[in-house]
Amino acid sequence: MRLVVLVSGSGTNLQAMIDTLHTGEGPVEIVAVGADKPCTGLDRAGAAGIETFVVAPSEHADRAAWNRALQRAVASHRPDRVVFAGFMRIVDAEFEAAFPGAIVNTHPSLLPSFPGAHAVRDALAYGVKITGATVHEVVADVDAGPILAQVAVAVAEDDTESSLHERIKTAERELLVSTLDRLSRGAHGSGEPRPRP
Ligand code: GRF
Repeated sequence: MRLVVLVSGSGTNLQAMIDTLHTGEGPVEIVAVGADKPCTGLDRAGAAGIETFVVAPSEHADRAAWNRALQRAVASHRPDRVVFAGFMRIVDAEFEAAFPGAIVNTHPSLLPSFPGAHAVRDALAYGVKITGATVHEVVADVDAGPILAQVAVAVAEDDTESSLHERIKTAERELLVSTLDRLSRGAHGSGEPRPRP
């Protein structure tokens, strides 16, 4: 299974994928890692000898042009799946349609609770006692799409956004890797597409 992974930040989810899936021994090959800006995630890919690319919004006239450029860059690597592993940009419906049912995102909450860019902060502010991570298929709506897997993480009394996020990320990395492993072996996700409420 050829993967193109998109990142924006520290890339610890990517590193977990490199360490456990991109070993040359299983069916998964990370053929390229892309980002919207230079970041540690890209450095991790480079260190593992994986091809990298940057498609920066600032270098394109508008969002649509950026989306098309990103789509072209990803498609040029002929991926079976595209993984958003901490990719902090929203792609448009055209991008999603170019890789139908093949884009996987990881999100640090139990969706459909706390979608968006501040999921951990929002969960903490709401006062939930259990949160977690979700790996799901990407559809045109943000943080929506069939859920492939979830893991629960308890919120501690003295958690800060960063301590809680670190604990979620530990569980999230395992969840992402095990879900991609399952997908690479041809198994279906636990969540078949279902009607939305
Ligand atoms: C993850 O929690 C991801 O779900 C969120 O940002 C974090 C990325 O972490 N969108 P990393 O870059 O993989 O370390």
